[in-house]
Amino acid sequence: MAVAFAEVEIGFVPTSTDHRWRDPIADEEMLDLVLSHGGHPSSGWWPRVREHSLGWVGARDHDGLLVGFVNVAWDGGDHAFLLDTKTRGSHQHRGIGSELVRVAAAYAAAAGCEWLFVDFRAELAPFYLDACGFARTEAGLIHLTVVDRTGRA
Ligand SMILES: CC(C)(COP(=O)(O)OP(=O)(O)OC[C@H]1O[C@@H](n2cnc3c(N)ncnc32)[C@H](O)[C@@H]1OP(=O)(O)O)[C@@H](O)C(=O)NCCC(=O)NCCS
Repeated sequence: MAVAFAEVEIGFVPTSTDHRWRDPIADEEMLDLVLSHGGHPSSGWWPRVREHSLGWVGARDHDGLLVGFVNVAWDGGDHAFLLDTKTRGSHQHRGIGSELVRVAAAYAAAAGCEWLFVDFRAELAPFYLDACGFARTEAGLIHLTVVDRTGRA
């Protein structure tokens, strides 16, 4: 696992895809998006998670099809956390994912957050570090499902 943080500036670059903060996304659309990139969709996941979100970005094509998503969780203060970045399988490598992150970062900054964190699998370093501008930082992780009741891993 690697964890990275970013400081951002607000600004927008026009793309052929419409990226919107807090875009209304139906559960069925989320299930379809997850399936499209080979993920494992879970019915009811998005309506449940949305309640705890600072905000999220949905990307849609000209026909309104959901082609990308990223969620931003936060601590209610100056720390924001990027989660569940995804681009529709058929639409990857067109700049949608990095634009999702840029818009999410801009809105998190506008909400008063100073830091944006993300963690990711090693193979995604070119995406998060090079394309999205995150810097590496030290981090720690406990896999809670393997921690016993005394708190020992
Ligand atoms: C990771 C993901 C969101 C990237 O979306 P995307 O719209 O294709 O990203 P971009 O087009 O903005 O990519 C910009 C650059 O980042 C890098 N990049 C993109 N996807 C990458 C991947 N899967 N692995 C490594 N580098 C990647 C490439 O350098 C890419 O430039 P290129 O298209 O010229 O090769 C997409 O691959 C995805 O949805 N994957 C499945 C879900 C997932 O694993 N999400 C991450 C959760 S932490």
